[in-house]
Amino acid sequence: MRPNLLILGGTTEGRSLCHAVAEAGLSGIVSLAGRVERPASQALPMRMGGFGGAEGLERYLRDNGITHVIDATHPFAAQMSCNAIAACERIGVPLIALTRAPWSAEPGDRWTHVPDIAGAVAALDCSPKHVMLAVGRMHLHDFTANPQHAYLLRLVDPPKEPLGFPDAQVIVDRGPFTLEGDRALMVEHRIDLVVSKNAGGTGAQAKILAARELGLPVLMIDRPTIPERAEAHSVANVMRWLGHVSTDLGV
Ligand SMILES: NC(=O)c1ccc[n+]([C@@H]2O[C@H](COP(=O)([O-])OP(=O)(O)OC[C@H]3O[C@@H](n4cnc5c(N)ncnc54)[C@H](OP(=O)(O)O)[C@@H]3O)[C@@H](O)[C@H]2O)c1
Repeated sequence: MRPNLLILGGTTEGRSLCHAVAEAGLSGIVSLAGRVERPASQALPMRMGGFGGAEGLERYLRDNGITHVIDATHPFAAQMSCNAIAACERIGVPLIALTRAPWSAEPGDRWTHVPDIAGAVAALDCSPKHVMLAVGRMHLHDFTANPQHAYLLRLVDPPKEPLGFPDAQVIVDRGPFTLEGDRALMVEHRIDLVVSKNAGGTGAQAKILAARELGLPVLMIDRPTIPERAEAHSVANVMRWLGHVSTDLGV
């Protein structure tokens, strides 16, 4: 049977995979959640928006004759990943996740681990600080429980509504970011604490490296647990799993 892939995207790795799949002449579609206003261009046809839970995804896979699913979502997109596992298991469609290793602390790092967003919010119940809050848009509201801090927020899109922080500056920018840029930003905004998800990879790592150089503490939100599934750590290995040799072996 000719492969017909569904790539669950929203990451740099997902984009690279689309490129390799298109180069290999395979047919497939990439799915994005539709969270950002101007999604990055993709080398495959794109669909946008939720499927309607695991059942909706199962229906989508059947209706569209999908032969393989590659979950290239962000490591914190746990709901989507769990839905993919459930739907693929139920109808016997092979699934692989394209994953990146988490960051691990190195000499000079001053990390405090918290298990989730709620843990980060609880840890910020402390004296006023200048906080770089680099956790994306979805959970920002939770942090308004600690209004005593001056927040620096970096978002992909300008916020449409007031964010609910008495003291917050928004920078609209999209990665990859540079060490030099993030170090300058932290100095300029007198940051004394960085809050980050343990995303892994290089695109969002600059703030972690900058915090290390400046000796700043980092509140590191650990990854959610996702049930076991087949995993590949590079585009080339996903292509091998598909029975194709990648043209993009550098990724
Ligand atoms: N979480 C992060 O920190 C982060 C960072 C960078 C990029 N992203 C990207 O942003 C997207 C959303 O992340 P999230 O953390 O909000 O996910 P999530 O909490 O796991 O997903 C919530 C719901 O959003 C829909 N969804 C998520 N990813 C989708 C995709 N690729 N295609 C179609 N529907 C999708 C699904 O809706 P239905 O149940 O209706 O199918 C899913 O149940 C993902 O594609 C992810 O790769 C996330």
